[in-house]
Amino acid sequence: MTALKPDEFLQQLIAAREAFWEKMNAERKSYGAEKPLTPAIVLRRLQFGVVMERKAAEVTAPWVSKIPDLDLQQPMSEYVVNELKHTSILRQRIRDLNGDPDGLWNSPLTELKELWEFHGTLGSLCELIASVQFGHEEFFPRTSKSFIERVSPLDPTTAAIYRDVLLAEEEGHEWIAPEILKRYATEADVQQCLAALKTGCELFGRAIQSFNRTMPV
Ligand SMILES: [Fe+2]
Ligand SMILES: [Fe+2]
Repeated sequence: MTALKPDEFLQQLIAAREAFWEKMNAERKSYGAEKPLTPAIVLRRLQFGVVMERKAAEVTAPWVSKIPDLDLQQPMSEYVVNELKHTSILRQRIRDLNGDPDGLWNSPLTELKELWEFHGTLGSLCELIASVQFGHEEFFPRTSKSFIERVSPLDPTTAAIYRDVLLAEEEGHEWIAPEILKRYATEADVQQCLAALKTGCELFGRAIQSFNRTMPV
């Protein structure tokens, strides 16, 4: 099997991710992902964020030392710091709302656990990056824009945290994953990380669905 050129390979990854996004988006309404928010739903969404942010940092941290080039290693270590910072901001917001910051962290949904177990057992840097940062983390700006709009009238402070800190900083690290994949996924065997992206997206879709289905009423 011959390797694709870096740009062609990136296009292939994008196509797989966008196909999944289309599918997930079509399903989102059916399980009520966009239904009106209540304070209990906002709290749960914040608890979900705690798991997503902290796990992203935890599964990525071991790979930082494996990044060959310093110009990518340094921003990737800042990425880890940022995700942990987002975790602590979300935990504080939950405390301010008198909720349990680790409500979902301590008893995660089965599907959410499966998602992060998968990420935690990937065997290479490119698989991890394809699956987490290039994969479902790319959906975060899209879903959080809709969340910010809906949460603004109900809880402007939470809306501001998402808009001014989380979203702003996520946008600042979006360039890293494609650059890592372009630079290091140049051999045919490494380009098998496409499979990790597909599985990661599938597991993410299941986690989101189960999260929405277990929403407080
Ligand atoms: Fe984050
Ligand atoms: Fe992130």
